[in-house]
Amino acid sequence: MINESRRGFVGKAFGAVAGVGAVASLVAMKKTWDPLPSVMAAGFTVVDVSNMEENKLNIVVWRGKPIFVLKYSADMKPTEGRNVKIGDNYFSVMIGLCTHLGCIPAYREDKKDFKCACHGGKYTDAGVQTFGPPPRPLDIPPFDLDGTTLTLGKDGAAYKELMAKA
Ligand code: FES
Repeated sequence: MINESRRGFVGKAFGAVAGVGAVASLVAMKKTWDPLPSVMAAGFTVVDVSNMEENKLNIVVWRGKPIFVLKYSADMKPTEGRNVKIGDNYFSVMIGLCTHLGCIPAYREDKKDFKCACHGGKYTDAGVQTFGPPPRPLDIPPFDLDGTTLTLGKDGAAYKELMAKA
C-alpha cells in the first residue's frame, strides 16, 4: 500500500516536471521561429520626397535592394500604371535591378532613360523596357503614401491603384 502511493507520487512528480519542460521547450521554439525585432523593422524604408530635385535619380535601400525614386520635371510625360503623383509632380518608384539578370541600370539625365551596362538593356524614365534583353519593366515595390512621405514595403492605396492600372 505504501509502495503504491509512493509510486503514484513519483509518477505525478515526473509528469509535472515533464509538462513544465515541454511548455518551456515550446516557448523557446516559438522565440526561435519569430523574426527578430530588427528584421521586422527592416521591412520598411521611409523616404521623404519633398526635397528631391527633378530629373535626378535618388537611390534608397529597401530590404537590401536599390530603389529608384525619380521626380519628374514638367517636360516628362507620365506612363499609365507606372508613375505616382505626389504633390504637383509625378514620380517613378522602382526596384533598381535590371529584369534581365539583375544589374543596376544607370539613369541618363540627358536622355531621360535608364541603360543597363551589362547587356545594353534600356528602359524609359518610367522603367518600361525599350531595347535589349530585359523581358519586362523594372518592378515596382509596394509602397504607401502619406503626404510627401513614401513608406516602402507597405502596399497602400496609391500602390494598389497603380497596380490596378498596370
Ligand atoms: S542584366 Fe541588364 S541587360 Fe542584362
